[in-house]
Amino acid sequence: MGNDKLISFENVSFSYSDESSEEIRYALKDINLAIHRGEFIAVLGHNGSGKSTLAKLSNSIYAPSSGKVFVEGMDTSDPENEFPIRKKVGVVFQNPDNQIVASIVEEDVAFGPENLGIPPAEIRQRVDEALRAVDMYGYRLHETHRLSGGQKQRVAIAGMLAMQPECLVLDEPTAMLDPMGRKEVMSIVRSLNRERGMTVVYITHYMEEAALADRVVIIDNSRIAADASPKQIFADQALLSRCGLAVPEITQIAYLLNKMGFSVPPDILTEEEMIQAIQTVSRSG
Ligand SMILES: Nc1ncnc2c1ncn2[C@@H]1O[C@H](COP(=O)(O)OP(=O)(O)O)[C@@H](O)[C@H]1O
Ligand SMILES: [Mg+2]
Repeated sequence: MGNDKLISFENVSFSYSDESSEEIRYALKDINLAIHRGEFIAVLGHNGSGKSTLAKLSNSIYAPSSGKVFVEGMDTSDPENEFPIRKKVGVVFQNPDNQIVASIVEEDVAFGPENLGIPPAEIRQRVDEALRAVDMYGYRLHETHRLSGGQKQRVAIAGMLAMQPECLVLDEPTAMLDPMGRKEVMSIVRSLNRERGMTVVYITHYMEEAALADRVVIIDNSRIAADASPKQIFADQALLSRCGLAVPEITQIAYLLNKMGFSVPPDILTEEEMIQAIQTVSRSG
């Protein structure tokens, strides 16, 4: 990773109010954040903290009120850069229904590359590849409105992948899904990062999803309150309660088991870690 910055926020503030309003309220204030190629970053923060604003600043949907956002060195405030930036950074939103534009799955995924003016043969190839990446190839001729929420969200992700972005920014992509759909989407996003090297910024309010990231950024009250590994973040009880956040459920269970005298580490963050710990305990005990 090193210094290979893909997106950088430099002293970024953003306000929805215009200059004429008496008191300017900032949705984001003085944000400094570098997103490196290949990283999987989770962004946590309670409602209204500024997460969606951050997502929209990352691909020039919004330009900062002050400060700068750069995508591969391109200034997002420059209208000339809007098109190349949208190709590099794809944003997936919360509601899959608002992102599906066509009635057949493969037509929906083709929509983005068609707008980029990609030749038809290459579109075909990109659409198939994108659908395979989200495990929806078998559904390519299905009607979009009949899909489950999780499947729709995977089609929305495929639509972004077909534009071959460098980075996916997902703004609470699982918030409207049932537990099954949440698992599907999270597992696809993880494999896009781990197996295909896709840079991922994953905004969520599920602690167990954030626990799977390489790095967790907490936004609180329009500012970055923390930027560290999941282990460091979820060990900091004071920080979490200050920001209105909790540890993942599995961590609470591990903590209780540990207190009850079982030799389970109290800082377990994921199901995999828990399974491993329990196997070790049952083998030794
Ligand atoms: N379109 C908008 N117009 C005015 N204020 C907005 C708009 N969108 C968000 N805000 C305000 O900006 C702040 C940050 O919102 P947002 O980025 O949506 O937070 P989050 O995604 O973390 O819930 C909130 O106070 C919210 O009320
Ligand atoms: Mg939001």
